[in-house]
Amino acid sequence: MPKKDLTQLAYQTLQNGKSIAGLVHKGLSTKLMEMIFPEANPDTQPVSPELLNKLRLSIAELEKVDWQEAEQGLYPKAQLFEAPWAQWAKNYPNIWLDLPSTWIRRRTRSVQDIPLNIDRDNYPDYYLQNFHHQTDGYLSNHSASLYDLQVEILFNGTADVMRRRIIAPLKRGLNKFNDRKPSSIRVLDVATGTGRTLKQVKSAVPEIELLGIDLSNSYLKQANKYLNTKNGEHVQLIRGNAEELPFSSNSLQGVTCVFLLHELPQMARQNVLNECFRVLEPGGVFILADSIQLADSPEFTTVMENFYKFFHEPYYRNYINDDIKTRLNTSGFEGITAQSHFMTRIWSATKSSESC
Ligand SMILES: C[S@@+](CC[C@H](N)C(=O)[O-])C[C@H]1O[C@@H](n2cnc3c(N)ncnc32)[C@H](O)[C@@H]1O
Repeated sequence: MPKKDLTQLAYQTLQNGKSIAGLVHKGLSTKLMEMIFPEANPDTQPVSPELLNKLRLSIAELEKVDWQEAEQGLYPKAQLFEAPWAQWAKNYPNIWLDLPSTWIRRRTRSVQDIPLNIDRDNYPDYYLQNFHHQTDGYLSNHSASLYDLQVEILFNGTADVMRRRIIAPLKRGLNKFNDRKPSSIRVLDVATGTGRTLKQVKSAVPEIELLGIDLSNSYLKQANKYLNTKNGEHVQLIRGNAEELPFSSNSLQGVTCVFLLHELPQMARQNVLNECFRVLEPGGVFILADSIQLADSPEFTTVMENFYKFFHEPYYRNYINDDIKTRLNTSGFEGITAQSHFMTRIWSATKSSESC
């Protein structure tokens, strides 16, 4: 068998393995919750065999695109296998140990159960919650250490595959600056969390300057460990609010933002988009990735509705009805395109060269 086919087989095997592991974990943990805390069981709708089949086809299509874009050289194939495996293996038992406290929060509808030592004045009110019933919200090292694995399990091993869909439009957008020295190109990842998107961008365009911003110190610490190894360019990580980006106007050539908007109230959503527009240089590119919405993916309505019924996602219901294209236009963006990949929609937009 040629080497190329072996790598593809390894990729498919890995994805199938992650998918099975995610399904088994979710099946077992839900059964356990039903046994121990039946009152914590939310009123979700059953997923029909037809819907299940559509979801499977959608994952297969997503992984096909992922493989094809690696083959086209948009990112190294090694990126398809990238994960802190040893760390994940070590953390997996902690996910089980953490589950009962999430069930208790779900049962008691306790959604503002965050560490007491937090200086609340440093955060917007909407942030001080247990999104997804997460222990400590985003505000502890414990939460940051479990987050990546929890998201991979939630999406049956496709979280990184969906994040990678920002690479192609980002590289296309940055082509406008091909006449400049790569090291002078600056790309900011807004709400970077534990840094998974930055890792992907770093491997796809290693020579550019990367920056990340997030409100959580703990998540940034985790990102720093993951991104800033001894060798290679340092990624600058900054604690700050995406509604007030600490960057000069017109100072960046690219901005990315992955899985943030659905966790923001409407006003904050618009503020973040306005800020992403402001900091971009005219001609710069903005790539936004977030959940699919009712208008673009009506066939997955049940999945979207079950999501906010099962997890504490206070703004998701509003988000899936929101018109993001109009919001991008309102901020000043042009050339807006959008495409869905399984559970994620990717918007690409530019700040026109005439903007000042
Ligand atoms: C669902 S996570 C997504 C993280 C990361 N982009 C990813 O792909 O995994 C949402 C992130 O947004 C951050 N966040 C939420 N509101 C924010 C705000 N107003 N400004 C900056 N970061 C924010 C949280 O701390 C968290 O790391």
